[in-house]
Amino acid sequence: MLEVDHLEVRYGKILAVQDISLQVTQGEIVALIGANGAGKSSIMKAICGIEPVASGQIHYLGEEITGLPSHKIIQRGIVQVPEGRLIFKGLTVRENLLLGGHRTRNRGALEEEITRLLEIFPMLQNRLNDPGSSLSGGQAQMLALARGLMARPKLLLLDEPSLGLAPLVVQDVLELIKSLKKQSFTILLVEQNVRQVLVIADRGYVLEGGRILLEDKAQQLLNHELLVHSYLGI
Ligand SMILES: Nc1ncnc2c1ncn2[C@@H]1O[C@H](COP(=O)(O)OP(=O)(O)OP(=O)(O)O)[C@@H](O)[C@H]1O
Ligand SMILES: [Mg+2]
Repeated sequence: MLEVDHLEVRYGKILAVQDISLQVTQGEIVALIGANGAGKSSIMKAICGIEPVASGQIHYLGEEITGLPSHKIIQRGIVQVPEGRLIFKGLTVRENLLLGGHRTRNRGALEEEITRLLEIFPMLQNRLNDPGSSLSGGQAQMLALARGLMARPKLLLLDEPSLGLAPLVVQDVLELIKSLKKQSFTILLVEQNVRQVLVIADRGYVLEGGRILLEDKAQQLLNHELLVHSYLGI
């Protein structure tokens, strides 16, 4: 579904991502793992057209999308939920959701979409008219995810969805992401909670200094000695 070949991302003289090749198959949850500064967000941003691709190619559903503006990439069904949650605190939960579906003009279709999403995110049901500022961290993350889904993406890019959340809430968010897989979304996921993400992921890539260090099935990565030592702290 997604194929990244020899991707390079630069910030001026800084080579943030080099020679990254990765694939995401329809229906998979694929994890990007790595320390701070490893290049995870840069890869996500390059895929969705927010950062320019210095070299390499990105193909999506068989077509090249390298260098397309981000709105064209969203139109094709790739939606990124960025790091840091970025919900609109002064708007209500419902208004935040409507913004996620702003390209759909038909109000009835939007309302149907909200109804469908509330089945996945029941915790937002009673909060629809509350301001974004009143949500807890976990609820704000659920809203950011739900808002991303309003655009009916085929491929979801999730950048550290559990950042800053309490451990129990992290588990809720990851369970929810796992349940999205059953709803036939395909997911590329950046996570610092290595062990927990590898439990829900199908495959993973371990990055270091902008390069891929390891790639394997999630189960294999969980068992991998290097990963166990450097990230799982055993
Ligand atoms: N806008 C920018 N300008 C300059 N350098 C940047 C910029 N964004 C990222 N970088 C650099 O690129 C490298 C990769 O950053 P990136 O944000 O992709 O890492 P990351 O793996 O997402 O890290 P984190 O886990 O901290 O989110 C880092 O060295 C970072 O300092
Ligand atoms: Mg990042």
